[in-house]
Amino acid sequence: MLTPGTDWKADVTVETPEDFQGMRAAGALVRRVFEQMKRAAVAGVSTAELDALAAAMLSDAGAVSAPKLFYDFPGHTCISVNEHAAHGIPGHRRVKAGDMINIDVSAELDGYVADMGESFVVGGGRRAQHEICAAVREAVSDAIAQVKPGRSLNVLGKAAQRVAQRRGYQIIRNLGSHGVGRSIHEEPSYVPVDNPAETRRLRQGMVFTIEPFFTTGVPWVEELTDGWTLAVGKDQLVAQFEHTIMVTHDGVEILTA
Ligand code: CO
Ligand code: CO
Repeated sequence: MLTPGTDWKADVTVETPEDFQGMRAAGALVRRVFEQMKRAAVAGVSTAELDALAAAMLSDAGAVSAPKLFYDFPGHTCISVNEHAAHGIPGHRRVKAGDMINIDVSAELDGYVADMGESFVVGGGRRAQHEICAAVREAVSDAIAQVKPGRSLNVLGKAAQRVAQRRGYQIIRNLGSHGVGRSIHEEPSYVPVDNPAETRRLRQGMVFTIEPFFTTGVPWVEELTDGWTLAVGKDQLVAQFEHTIMVTHDGVEILTA
């Protein structure tokens, strides 16, 4: 975590036109992979089968899974079902109609890393599931609308928290958004809640994710015994929405749109 006065040069990922193109290409790739997986996510498919689609697309593109590369994650993508919030391991589990699943795709292409994720409901589902997915998406879009060089990083948390409060959700406190670009997790790392102590400022060329996790209960995830999966309580809903964005000279570009 950076402190006031720290040199932020290290956090500026995009300095040259090559960086810019590299980040755009990585962002476009993870979006394509996600959309393909989402289309295939119908009742009866296993999470391993979904992950295999990603493995093939990444390999065809000359890219590698970032969680695998940087953390030796046992899958190419993270697929988390129902009360599993993040870092779910693809496996034999078959998706059922009415499941809410989160697919998170992060990849390195030619030295550049982008990261995105979305929660969505498979086959019908309940109103409450659709509502929480829509709310967390709204939080990210409100936060993105605040991005401008010179502004406090806290505008992001404030925007997300405003939506959470209005819609009646809690924001998970121990899952953060993070810098990305050359590696999967860089500075600035932050939890997207209002934090008046936040003094860091947005700067042109910074690349980071905005990814609040909304939940209906206790705002905390715990690691399961598999050593990876992060989950809320079984009776809770949890949903994430994530974009990688870049701060431009006068605003923002969404790299994973
Ligand atoms: Co992320
Ligand atoms: Co992600």
